[in-house]
Amino acid sequence: PKTEFVAELMSKMTLEEKIGQLNLPTSGDITTGSASSSNVAKNIEEGKVGGLFNIKSVQKIKEVQKIAVEKSRLKIPLLFGMDVIHGYETTFPIPLGLSCTWDMKLIERSAQIAAQEASADGINWTFSPMVDISRDPRWGRVSEGSGEDPYLGSQIAKAMVHGYQGDDLSKNNTILSCVKHFALYGAPDAGRDYNTVDMSRIKMYNDYFPPYKAAVDAGVGSAMASFNEVEGIPATGNKWLMTDVLRKQWGFKGFVVTDFTGINEMVEHGMGDLQTVSALALNAGIEMDMVGEGFLTTLKKSLDEGKVSMEQIDNAVRLILDAKYDLGLFQDPYKYCDEKRAKTEIFTTSHRAEARKTAAQSLVLLKNNNQLLPLKKSGTIALIGPLADAKENMAGTWSVATKMENSVSLLAGIKEVAGNATKVLYAKGSNLDYDPAFEEKATMFGKTLHRDNRTKEELLAEALKIANQSDIIFAALGESAEMSGESSSRTNLEIPQAQKDLLQALLKTGKPVVLVLFTGRPLVLVQENETVPAILNTWFAGSEAGSAIADVLFGNENPSGKLTATFPRSVGQVPIYYNQKNTGRPLGNKEGKFEKFRSNYIDERNEPLFPFGFGLSYTTFEYSNLKISSDKMNFNDKVNVTVDVTNTGNFDGKEVVQLYIRDMVGSVTRPIKELKGFQKIAIKKGEKQTVTFEISVEELKFYNSDLQFIAEPGAFQVFVGTNSSTDNKVSFELIK
Ligand code: IFM
Repeated sequence: PKTEFVAELMSKMTLEEKIGQLNLPTSGDITTGSASSSNVAKNIEEGKVGGLFNIKSVQKIKEVQKIAVEKSRLKIPLLFGMDVIHGYETTFPIPLGLSCTWDMKLIERSAQIAAQEASADGINWTFSPMVDISRDPRWGRVSEGSGEDPYLGSQIAKAMVHGYQGDDLSKNNTILSCVKHFALYGAPDAGRDYNTVDMSRIKMYNDYFPPYKAAVDAGVGSAMASFNEVEGIPATGNKWLMTDVLRKQWGFKGFVVTDFTGINEMVEHGMGDLQTVSALALNAGIEMDMVGEGFLTTLKKSLDEGKVSMEQIDNAVRLILDAKYDLGLFQDPYKYCDEKRAKTEIFTTSHRAEARKTAAQSLVLLKNNNQLLPLKKSGTIALIGPLADAKENMAGTWSVATKMENSVSLLAGIKEVAGNATKVLYAKGSNLDYDPAFEEKATMFGKTLHRDNRTKEELLAEALKIANQSDIIFAALGESAEMSGESSSRTNLEIPQAQKDLLQALLKTGKPVVLVLFTGRPLVLVQENETVPAILNTWFAGSEAGSAIADVLFGNENPSGKLTATFPRSVGQVPIYYNQKNTGRPLGNKEGKFEKFRSNYIDERNEPLFPFGFGLSYTTFEYSNLKISSDKMNFNDKVNVTVDVTNTGNFDGKEVVQLYIRDMVGSVTRPIKELKGFQKIAIKKGEKQTVTFEISVEELKFYNSDLQFIAEPGAFQVFVGTNSSTDNKVSFELIK
């Protein structure tokens, strides 16, 4: 019925109406209420709009949908998109934080809750998941992805798509998902957003493509083109990428939307005028034009001049109408506009409770000398730092729907969790940094970290006063929410200097200090690691951040998050990632001693400060008895790898048991380690669990130089341990 329905509808459409379906304006002045008099409204009435995005509330969406289905000639309903990236009003940790849970059920559930809330508020399409692999923390949008690893990234991509779309897109609590940004957006030269990407195909296929493909395999309904070029052609106009790879090789059935004015930006890239680049995009395999109106204003001319075909336009229209059909919009254009749902299903107590639990699991304990944490609920705490009482910063970047005033600050969370026996003192201590211009640059959608006009001496004096009255200091420092995210690239990966100075002054008091770190990217924390006894990395943990962080600080929750992106020692090590190649001149010693004519630095060791997969717990885990069921495996066989994990500490806890593979010899060089399995397990104190991983030929496959996905016979090593630096290994041979 879909095919016939859409064909029948298309037979009635004029060329203008068809091109109109490919147009996705932003809501503009429609969001300010006066829908009927706006230019966008006029275009909707004339059938020149396929969807709108980032318009919030059932009332507004209903008003706009009404124009489409009552005033336009063919009454075609609109799609309503939004950047629902890590939750809706109930906000989950930024995606990089969420990935550190390594818990696919929790991640899927976060997307499900986001879909439920968004759909209750009129939204039927989200521009998520963002699955761009990045190995470069200078790039601000590293905060929006799942880190550096293609295997973990693929599992997360799948979980998110399932979470948003469910099994049935026509239900009113599921929404269309959009995998982005296709492709390679996370690998710009020098970590500068929107910059040139240049990469070999073998690297694309092995390291950067897998999460996009996983989203496609999971049935994602749409994809977004990236801003960057790929092999010298902007992704938005790259036919090899959009048609050969995405559609022909991977079998993608949904539609592709540009990222914002991606078509127009091809003029700046130097690909021709607006008509030329619009035709280039359509011919490459782009279906929907976000904001730029290149399709709307030039496609007819290009058709008349034979630069695009009617078939190409029809294909694009069909895919967009298919999506509307799948969502059930033709049956009921108002199916997501239920005011009762909007009142009862958004930011609910139960959603917030789930977000709080998830947030607690995203925190990564980086250091905890002498078991300084968890803290007893007694005594006096001095909570100091510009991020301590900053609820507008808790949700993190790209949280369009979040009501920032509803987020729980760290100060509020600590007061709630610490109980009456604990006295909590607070002082700001410093601004984000010395230079006020910094705060302005780190601002998006009105979200900023407000500046205190007192002098740095006044701020410090107030902080030291309460520090001296306390038993312990919690220093809430790091980046503000918008220091990462879009267009927030950095060349310096340290905590801003004003806060570093504050931290050192607090340490001088001689009181124990816990660094409660806020960040949207891996930072360089060498000085902090040397001087501070405990560091809890909290990312931006969402609307419930303050409560979740307090739950961990006071031991209601035992931290179990593990890094999904490497923390370098120095910005000069970037790009840095665990699954690197051996090179022909690897370093011969494990202590990081400099060796001339080997691949290393004269002024820094090769190892990161905190490796991929790293994260401490309040308890300790010991690995023993690593075994493999056979030292030979043929192509249709499997081997089992088992390991015993014992909780040897004083708390019940969760551990992410990680399995890495090394393919010892290949027709192309292979990484020294690749994550190929993980299990997050709960172990009670004193107890032991045996964990079993099954390895089949699938885990051993890679793309060779002909881009065939194959496994090659030969020796393999299998590492199992608590993070990517583990040396705990067994070996086997894959035989023909
Ligand atoms: O979805 C986003 C994208 O990630 C960045 N540019 C704007 C889009 C729509 O808001």
